[in-house]
Amino acid sequence: MSPGKSTILVTGGAGYIGSHTVLALKRAGYDVVILDNLVYGHRDLVEKVLQAEIVVGDISDRPLLDRLFQTKDIAAVMHFSAYAYVGESVIEPAKYYRNNVLGTLCLLEAMQAAGVKKFVFSSTCATYGVPDVMPIMEDHPQDPINPYGASKLMVERILADFDVAYGLKSVCFRYFNAAGADPDGLLGEDHSPETHLIPLVLLTALGKRESISIFGTNYPTPDGTCIRDYIHVTDLADAHILGLEYLFSAGNSEVFNLGNGSGFSVREVIEAAKLVTGKNIKVVKCDRRPGDPPILIGSAQKARKILDWKPQYPHIKDIVAHAWQWHQKRHK
Ligand SMILES: NC(=O)c1ccc[n+]([C@@H]2O[C@H](COP(=O)([O-])OP(=O)(O)OC[C@H]3O[C@@H](n4cnc5c(N)ncnc54)[C@H](O)[C@@H]3O)[C@@H](O)[C@H]2O)c1
Repeated sequence: MSPGKSTILVTGGAGYIGSHTVLALKRAGYDVVILDNLVYGHRDLVEKVLQAEIVVGDISDRPLLDRLFQTKDIAAVMHFSAYAYVGESVIEPAKYYRNNVLGTLCLLEAMQAAGVKKFVFSSTCATYGVPDVMPIMEDHPQDPINPYGASKLMVERILADFDVAYGLKSVCFRYFNAAGADPDGLLGEDHSPETHLIPLVLLTALGKRESISIFGTNYPTPDGTCIRDYIHVTDLADAHILGLEYLFSAGNSEVFNLGNGSGFSVREVIEAAKLVTGKNIKVVKCDRRPGDPPILIGSAQKARKILDWKPQYPHIKDIVAHAWQWHQKRHK
């Protein structure tokens, strides 16, 4: 299917990763319709920056979905919408299973009824739980330790079953830590509440927060702080285009890790932010949080091999610099 002729439905396209992917889709010549209930998304970015069509609504609204599939010539769905606060998912699991699992099931049933058979799904490294081998490969056992990760794993399972029963072809991307911002400064990360390290560090540099907390300084890592795999959001967006094209060229359902294959410690991220911003960033040392593994690094060799995907921005300094450019503009 040639770009320009297909409409892609992007759920959660007003959110962080979804909006960057909409930008990439439009640049690649696709027509896009965003479905977002704006619980966390940003209408201003969709209208002013992306200039994309948005339907404000919920993925669990079946009549709305049926109307969308009847009136638009949708060739594939990219599904970003979900709740993604790990801590909240432990306290309010029902909220997560309802939105992330039941909402997705509603979307998949509407697709099935409309005969739409291509699906790109935002899964997560949280489906692996506490890994025992590093870097994590796709065939590592999945044993999530919180309802958020479990909700994503349940959808992966539903997708495998929908393929067998209905021929729905899917690409599941298990992201590691999405980070950074559009290199041209058009888009970036604006979660509320914010829980991700890089924006929290940069909000501290901007004086919007007093300090940044380091949870655990005695891990078995070179500087004692946790190591995570940060992947630039533009590289994630590019992978989604490749995943879509893979499905359009009759690819079978597949699961891919999306990460850098290398990690940075909390202290390294803070040091990079000090260099990029030229600001002193106040750090507060705190106790470890339960359930935080010392190191999480993913292997994305499979995506490199099958999709020919190669991250353009693997360096933490670029990731932080792009995020800083965005934060300065967004929080003027
Ligand atoms: N940010 C990360 O590091 C990361 C890592 C792994 C996986 N993920 C997954 O990637 C996806 C996107 O994450 P993000 O950081 O861009 O989150 P985000 O909150 O910025 O975006 C999610 C969007 O979905 C919308 N939404 C939520 N529930 C909805 C519903 N029922 N109907 C319609 N719209 C709804 C929200 O309004 C928001 O715009 C999520 O599925 C998340 O679980 C994110």
